[in-house]
Amino acid sequence: MSELDADLRTDANWGTPASYIPELARVDPAQFAITVVTADGKIHSAGDSDTRFSVQSVTKVFTLAIALGRSGDQLWQRVSREPSGLAFNSIVQLEHEGGRPRNPFINAGAIVTTDEILSGRAPRDALAEIVQFIRTAAGSDDIHINEAVAASETAHGHRNFALAHFLASFDNLKNAPEMTLGTYFHHCALEMTTTQLAMAGRFLMDAATGPRLLSTARVRRLNALMLTCGHYDGSGDFAYRVGIPGKSGVGGGILAIVPGTAAIAVWSPGLNRYGNSLKGTEALATLARKMNWSIF
Ligand code: DON
Repeated sequence: MSELDADLRTDANWGTPASYIPELARVDPAQFAITVVTADGKIHSAGDSDTRFSVQSVTKVFTLAIALGRSGDQLWQRVSREPSGLAFNSIVQLEHEGGRPRNPFINAGAIVTTDEILSGRAPRDALAEIVQFIRTAAGSDDIHINEAVAASETAHGHRNFALAHFLASFDNLKNAPEMTLGTYFHHCALEMTTTQLAMAGRFLMDAATGPRLLSTARVRRLNALMLTCGHYDGSGDFAYRVGIPGKSGVGGGILAIVPGTAAIAVWSPGLNRYGNSLKGTEALATLARKMNWSIF
């Protein structure tokens, strides 16, 4: 792991942090961290694994788990389970497909799952449930929302407002758009270290470590969606290069799962052209090759 960290740092191409959320654009791209938690509960870290970063879309794995727990398979009436082949914030398919987003990981789909969790409550109550779920999964109470990041995204969130209103026009939003989006922006603004994120991902490896938060059947399905949709229009490339389920965020984090074997969190804020961590993906590709962790 420290060899992997050192190797990655020798190449000066760190990619570019997300620019459409000004608070994220300020982050120094030359940072990298990795944590692996194995099925026996052992934790292995290298790099900046105590630095907190903006988890962003990685939270969509946890909100999907919560929404499925609350609503069961009824959720799939509101959102499909197919890769979109388009950018995470694209709107075009919604118009042709009756306002039913392609999957729960693109922004439109994650707004629907957040809306399902909110279900008429005050946003702070839904957020308390989401934060508590993630803290329980991670086994740490020291996980918090960065209000400046949430405010920054709200101020520049024209795309997400457009998506939410478009969903509402198809009757696929149960709450007022600003309530659902307030909840969505805040859960995206959660901050974690790679250690906390890998620990929070333990339930997805379905092994005897960490809390059991979902049935085995649901864990398998979540992993299937992470593999097919977790990297948006870069999902095929990620499956080809890394070969395990993974979920990325524009903060540069990726949570990847080797079923039955390991939960891995990587972070490097510079992104590739799909909006996924450049060095994080490279690190996962190297690790999966060295450990023979591809599921294929
Ligand atoms: O809604 C957004 O655009 C962000 N809060 C999250 C997007 C994201 O992380 C996409 N992942 N690579």
